[in-house]
Amino acid sequence: MAGSEMGVTQAKAETVTDAGRKPDPCIVVIFGASGDLTKRKLLPALYHLDQQNLLPENFSVVGVARRDLSKTFAPDMKDGILKGGGVEENEEKLGKFVEKIEYFATNFDDDAGFEKLKAFLAEQDGKSGTKGNRLFYLAVAPEFFADIVERLGKHGMTKPAEGAENGAWVRFIIEKPFGTDLDSAIKLNKDINAVLGEDQIFRIDHYLGKEAVQNIPVLRFANGMFEPLWNRDYIDNVQITAAESIGIEGRGPFYEQAGALRDVLQNHVMEVLSFVAMEPPDSFESSAVRVEKLKVWKAIEAVPLENTARGQYGPGKVDGQDAIGYRQEDRVNPESQTETYAAMKLSIDNWRWAGVPFYIRAAKRLTERVTEVVITFKKAPLDLFGAPGKSQIEQNVLTLRIQPDDGIKLQFGNKVPGPVTDIKQVKMEFSYAAEFGKSSANGYERLLLDAMLGDGTLFAEGAGVEATWKLMTPILEAWKAQQKEFPNYAAGTWGPDEGAELLGRDGREWKVS
Ligand code: BG6
Repeated sequence: MAGSEMGVTQAKAETVTDAGRKPDPCIVVIFGASGDLTKRKLLPALYHLDQQNLLPENFSVVGVARRDLSKTFAPDMKDGILKGGGVEENEEKLGKFVEKIEYFATNFDDDAGFEKLKAFLAEQDGKSGTKGNRLFYLAVAPEFFADIVERLGKHGMTKPAEGAENGAWVRFIIEKPFGTDLDSAIKLNKDINAVLGEDQIFRIDHYLGKEAVQNIPVLRFANGMFEPLWNRDYIDNVQITAAESIGIEGRGPFYEQAGALRDVLQNHVMEVLSFVAMEPPDSFESSAVRVEKLKVWKAIEAVPLENTARGQYGPGKVDGQDAIGYRQEDRVNPESQTETYAAMKLSIDNWRWAGVPFYIRAAKRLTERVTEVVITFKKAPLDLFGAPGKSQIEQNVLTLRIQPDDGIKLQFGNKVPGPVTDIKQVKMEFSYAAEFGKSSANGYERLLLDAMLGDGTLFAEGAGVEATWKLMTPILEAWKAQQKEFPNYAAGTWGPDEGAELLGRDGREWKVS
């Protein structure tokens, strides 16, 4: 079935409005503002919010970085907004928004610079009526997170300034990676919590900004028909794939330290998994949701090495173009042991999921870009329409496609029209683009808005980050202790044999829709 024929016609009428969700007047202060993220994602997202009238009237953005960009910053951001696409070509509106963008240069270890920043922000409050409310966004390399927070604390910027109105707030969005293993995550939490309350901290995972990820709990808990089947009695296995066809795109030094497990599996994929596996929370409030997500991560059994697979791409062809191998990438060790493919089989030891394998994988330079959750149901108990040697039943498959072409597909057996009972697998499909039109949002809109509103539901909490690192760190250590013959897959393929064997051993294979 094409487009949105899965009975979603009411969805438009039922869209919950965001009325009343307008944040307080505030300044968004972006540290690391000269980086790509600010121009490509953050400013376009803020402008999208502005266009939807979701920003406060009294609002300003202050970019902070080391270089003096005071002349070029605002025009550069305007350019980023226009290139980001999806904006109405309205010079007046855009011009008005760009007027709210300021820039401040300081080194991150310069006390005098921080003191001046404090005065600069206070001056902005006076000019823009932002009332002392601050959302600091740390879009800097992770080694600066704790120092910046500490220095802001030292200069009295982590709490509302004296004389600020009651209810004034200071919040922090912290980019990933949040730690590189369990010890570093614990240390980072400790350092940051020494200055900030947990309710001030918003650890961002941009996957939680994706519509199709936010829709997972909606699909499960806003519909009556899925939840009764969402357990070990009906589900055979769950797969989560985060496949990319791109390589490391010039980020050699970063990726050499990261690898696929740290870069995507430990955070993005584990966030998605928690939404798929969690129990219904008693409300959709941040604290209730976080408790349920944490329970899932804690219930995952330690992963034996044989339930993991890793790989590194060699030269190959992607989309018909020659692609170099990982070890030939710029600023990558020619004998690198860094994995560009990571997969594992997880067991969630709780009542709902006992015995249901969760297979997860993340990788660069695979055949195509696809992120999805594939839920395969158990077969019907009896092959009523089969004949000897010819089974007519297959497993139903529900696919939650996160990107590209986000949507949902349900595969089931259907009688082929004609005088005999032949059964063919068909798909019912819901497509976001077909139903709601193509969206120009980049996912940061919702997260920035929620942080301005103080809603941490779609952000990681300290304990959750530690729980996922606790699970992943022993795997990283075991991998480090065991050298691998790399490369073990060609760019443009579906990864190494050992990735396929992880499921092959269980009589299954990876599925993408
Ligand atoms: C980032 C990783 O967190 O997520 C990148 O550092 C990866 O390596 C990216 O490419 C994937 O995000 P998306 O939204 O393109 O799936």
